[in-house]
Amino acid sequence: MPLPDLEKKTVLTLGLKKARGEKIAAVTAYDHPTARLASEAGIDLILVGDSVGMVLQGHANTLKVTIDEIVYHTSMVARAEPRSLVVSDLPYGSFHVSVKKSVENACRCLKEGGAEAVKLEGGRKRFNVIAALLDAEVPVLAHLGLTPQSVHALGGFKVQGKLREKAREIYQDARDLEKLGVFAIVLESIPEELARKITADLRIPTIGIGAGSGCDGQILVFHDLVGFTDLYMPKFVRKYADTRSLWLGALEKYVGDVQGGSFPNDAESFHLHKDIEEFLK
Ligand code: KIV
Repeated sequence: MPLPDLEKKTVLTLGLKKARGEKIAAVTAYDHPTARLASEAGIDLILVGDSVGMVLQGHANTLKVTIDEIVYHTSMVARAEPRSLVVSDLPYGSFHVSVKKSVENACRCLKEGGAEAVKLEGGRKRFNVIAALLDAEVPVLAHLGLTPQSVHALGGFKVQGKLREKAREIYQDARDLEKLGVFAIVLESIPEELARKITADLRIPTIGIGAGSGCDGQILVFHDLVGFTDLYMPKFVRKYADTRSLWLGALEKYVGDVQGGSFPNDAESFHLHKDIEEFLK
């Protein structure tokens, strides 16, 4: 029987869903209204992703996003008190300098932002940081495959794990991350066959983006799935709506109404009491 959707979702919910063969639906959100929508729609996990750097800030990649910005966006999302699990994405540079600094930054996401877990990109090179976060009671969502914060090291946003050696590395990292104690793993832009094998061999859930249908769940960027922009979309994005034309249509109508003088009308204006109107005369 599916879990009742009115329950607050926790890291345990995701594991339970995998055990029950129920799929996990995850989405990004960077603000209060989007978090409310996601929660109402039955989303299991909201990621306050560093994709905010590309989606909202207009950068070409995610590298410029700061920990202050992630804490700020997380606090907007958490204030909506969504039933979905709220996860902060640790941005580039916030967990690369020292273990101590990484734990401090992750704790800020929970203490100041109100997140219930953090996500961080990378495999074996990050195991010591992940172990320290878990030791500090910070639940960790791992992220393997195409890790966008490594865009320069990888030579672009390219599918990962197509060749044997890299596929083995991703597989082994996934197994070791489970042993370390992460509660789930995001698999981004890897061949579907590899994602399926990892998913079958792990007890913790996998959440795919560009990793095919064999994962335990899927995640998409909210603005991509609702068709907010007309910018380039990777092939794994399914656009469930074209809201950009709705926004555009509304704005154009508003411009027309303002220019034509039909906005605001009488009912949309405040009025003086008759005696005060007299006084103004
Ligand atoms: O930052 C982000 O939005 C992400 C997901 C797309 C996995 O990392």
